[in-house]
Amino acid sequence: MKIFSFIEIVHLYGKNFGYLRTTLKLLSYEFKSINSYVRNYKTVVDLGSGEGLLSAILKSYNPGINFICLDLNLEYLSFIEENNFILNLNTLDKDILNVSDLPHSDVYMLNDMLHHISRNNHEVFLFNLIQRVNPGGMILVRDVRKSMSLDYFLTKIIDRRLYPLDPLSYMTQMEWLNLMSKVTPRKFRLKKSFFGWPSNKLQVVIWK
Ligand SMILES: C[S@@+](CC[C@H](N)C(=O)[O-])C[C@H]1O[C@@H](n2cnc3c(N)ncnc32)[C@H](O)[C@@H]1O
Repeated sequence: MKIFSFIEIVHLYGKNFGYLRTTLKLLSYEFKSINSYVRNYKTVVDLGSGEGLLSAILKSYNPGINFICLDLNLEYLSFIEENNFILNLNTLDKDILNVSDLPHSDVYMLNDMLHHISRNNHEVFLFNLIQRVNPGGMILVRDVRKSMSLDYFLTKIIDRRLYPLDPLSYMTQMEWLNLMSKVTPRKFRLKKSFFGWPSNKLQVVIWK
């Protein structure tokens, strides 16, 4: 059943967004690790979900979790809604910066999202967001680590083309550490990602 819904999801996204893009995205998600964090919770809000691929895959493994895909891009949200007979995800059209407007949740996921908002907003945003996490829950961030790597330079080039109006505020590992110590001095974990090639990604877990 799981395998069947996984293949169905890959086919659906491949058909609409390209099979190469879908496969690369799937390979880049540290699926096992992310799944191990979310699987025992009841609600997950995917902030800046885009077309919702990560939530869709997680949902296929965890049908009991309520996944809410939240984004400003109505095209992505419509895609999810039109295919909800397969995806079974909820959608919300909201600006993540209006934190008081966000639904409370056990887990907030921010995959490749934080660098799309201005660096000046990161600290206040994360501080306010952790207040909305249900007791015992967490914020999961996967984002770019500014570094001397080919992966980072390619990310920069692709992001500039796809999101010319966004601030694209990348941070080094040290800057991530500084940010986390300001937001939550004790309850965070920072891990370098690995998915088969030299990766520029960091995984940050912030516990409530
Ligand atoms: C690089 S995409 C990441 C998509 C998805 N998380 C993934 O991993 O595939 C960034 C997404 O954030 C959304 N976004 C940017 N600023 C936002 C904001 N202030 N509020 C809500 N969504 C936002 C964009 O519309 C875009 O879909």
